[in-house]
Amino acid sequence: MLVILRKTYEDLSREAARLVADRLRRKPNLVLGLATGSTPLGLYKALIEKHKKEGLDFSKVTTFNLDEYIGLPPSHDQSYRYFMRESFFKHVNLDPRYTHVPDGMAHDVEAQCEWYEQRIREVGGIDLQILGIGANGHLAFNEPGSSLGSRTRIKTLTERTVRDNARFFANADEVPRYAITMGIGTIMEARELLILASGEGKANAVKAAVEGPITATCPASICQMHRRAYFIIDEAARSKLTEVPIEEVTGREYAAPGFQSLWLGERSEPGEERRAHPHRG
Ligand code: GLP
Repeated sequence: MLVILRKTYEDLSREAARLVADRLRRKPNLVLGLATGSTPLGLYKALIEKHKKEGLDFSKVTTFNLDEYIGLPPSHDQSYRYFMRESFFKHVNLDPRYTHVPDGMAHDVEAQCEWYEQRIREVGGIDLQILGIGANGHLAFNEPGSSLGSRTRIKTLTERTVRDNARFFANADEVPRYAITMGIGTIMEARELLILASGEGKANAVKAAVEGPITATCPASICQMHRRAYFIIDEAARSKLTEVPIEEVTGREYAAPGFQSLWLGERSEPGEERRAHPHRG
């Protein structure tokens, strides 16, 4: 696991975009796992900019979103399909046929979940999975207590998550209580994980995920078991970390043995702050 510290949300988003762009340039038919929530919005914006200005090509990319609310059609402005279309899909040259979001209106939810898993297998698995983290440590909609080996399935949202997500709806009563979510086992099979966290509201969750014990009480803590999990966090989100000394890391260290997979192909710009802490191997 590698914890990469950036000063602000903008810096974090830019760093995440560099990593995604690097992986995409190396593998044009990348299988990219995507997340919703406010955290990855800056990353999507930066990727759209790279597409427009640098010609970053998404035409061969396949995407899989982590989750979707049950009962919201794609036309609902709070459905995750709608969110992805508006904030990312329609601004880049992704082939809509290669974009996957679980169908929250499926009559047979179980069959939908099985199909989702099968589609991921058919394309050879997810190369890079982008993740946010819930204030309660959830990953996608794998709420605290979720089995660490779980597969794509229906989950009941906790009151905390309903409350956290109510800001996007007219009131908490309108927030769906159920969702289809990739399981933790599904997420852990991705070849690389990129977890983004910004702001003080995430500091406790980041602390539990990065320095706490591996436990279903904090689903994100399972990332400690992944061989290529990168947390990119800003100063506010790291404010509760006590065990990790912060080191200056330059482009050279990124290329050091063990971190080769994170080499971004770009040297740090002069004066640009680049700090990271290689944590727990
Ligand atoms: C939702 C999503 C998660 C996301 C979380 C955090 O619950 N299902 O995938 O990580 O929100 O959202 P935000 O980034 O807005 O804090």
